[in-house]
Amino acid sequence: MTAQLIDGKAIAQQLRVQVAAAVTERLAAGKTKPTLATVLVGDRMDSATYVSSKQKACAELGMGSISRNLPGDISQEELEKVVQALDDDPAVHGILTQLPLPSHINEERVLQLISANKDVDGFSPLNIGRLAQKGRAPLFIPCTPAGCIYLLEQADVQIEGANAVVLGRSNIVGMPAALLLIGKNATVTVCHSRTKDLPDVVRGADILIAAIGKAEFVRGDWIKPGAAIIDVGINSKPDATRKSGYRLVGDVNFEEAKEAAGFITPVPGGVGPMTIAMLMRNTLRAAEMQDP
Ligand SMILES: NC(=O)c1ccc[n+]([C@@H]2O[C@H](COP(=O)([O-])OP(=O)(O)OC[C@H]3O[C@@H](n4cnc5c(N)ncnc54)[C@H](OP(=O)(O)O)[C@@H]3O)[C@@H](O)[C@H]2O)c1
Repeated sequence: MTAQLIDGKAIAQQLRVQVAAAVTERLAAGKTKPTLATVLVGDRMDSATYVSSKQKACAELGMGSISRNLPGDISQEELEKVVQALDDDPAVHGILTQLPLPSHINEERVLQLISANKDVDGFSPLNIGRLAQKGRAPLFIPCTPAGCIYLLEQADVQIEGANAVVLGRSNIVGMPAALLLIGKNATVTVCHSRTKDLPDVVRGADILIAAIGKAEFVRGDWIKPGAAIIDVGINSKPDATRKSGYRLVGDVNFEEAKEAAGFITPVPGGVGPMTIAMLMRNTLRAAEMQDP
């Protein structure tokens, strides 16, 4: 069996077109331009790349962006002042603090400063708390897990009643993905580095969300025939045939898994583009909430 590919790039592009149209309509009606503020601390190459893609997306969709690029040795107090000023600024609708922050910074205290209605990353205590509670809706859902669910829905994968396995329990991907699946009535198992008999647990999954950051870790014979696989991992693997000397692969061995799965996302071109599209949608919503 060869799985149906879930084309995250194409699905994200459709969403971006919808967001861009809504922004154009807002501006034509004389309303404020949805504006995202990004906060980047330090000089991690991957974080800088992610932030610049987010700013580029804002420009492409007709939205505004403000960037605060801060030195890696900034004090907790100085960083909090920057984030507080953005939160107080009525021209800023959404604030994204690129994670991870340097180890000397208390991340939780920084995220607490972002008002729930500007928290387009969905990581403020109120939004995450509401996501974890039955019958309560957060104002914003974290972008990568929201993208995973959107891809499943676009592929018409039945979530309700499915056995879902989430590999990874991070605050930014695994845990919110599991909460979203529970909210959609899946039966969810969350795995982590201390899980026993992982291949056997994965073999029971109708839906697998893999977010552990280990190249091609999930093997083809772990996959239940017909399962839907959402591969969040982004890992570089040496590849002498590429000019760069490497290529990106997911947490799932794609070539093996596609023979058993019913649906699978590629890496790159799966979850990655969805993360940015969801952030753009959240920023538009933030503007709609603050300036209806
Ligand atoms: N596509 C996107 O837009 C996007 C966005 C964010 C992240 N990512 C990618 O997604 C991956 C995960 O990111 P993250 O930030 O969630 O990573 P993370 O914070 O490092 O968390 C990794 C999780 O995987 C678990 N884990 C590690 N090794 C394992 C093993 N051998 N067996 C089972 N579980 C294991 C860890 O368990 P413990 O809790 O026990 O340590 C942890 O819960 C990375 O490749 C990252 O680059 C992609």
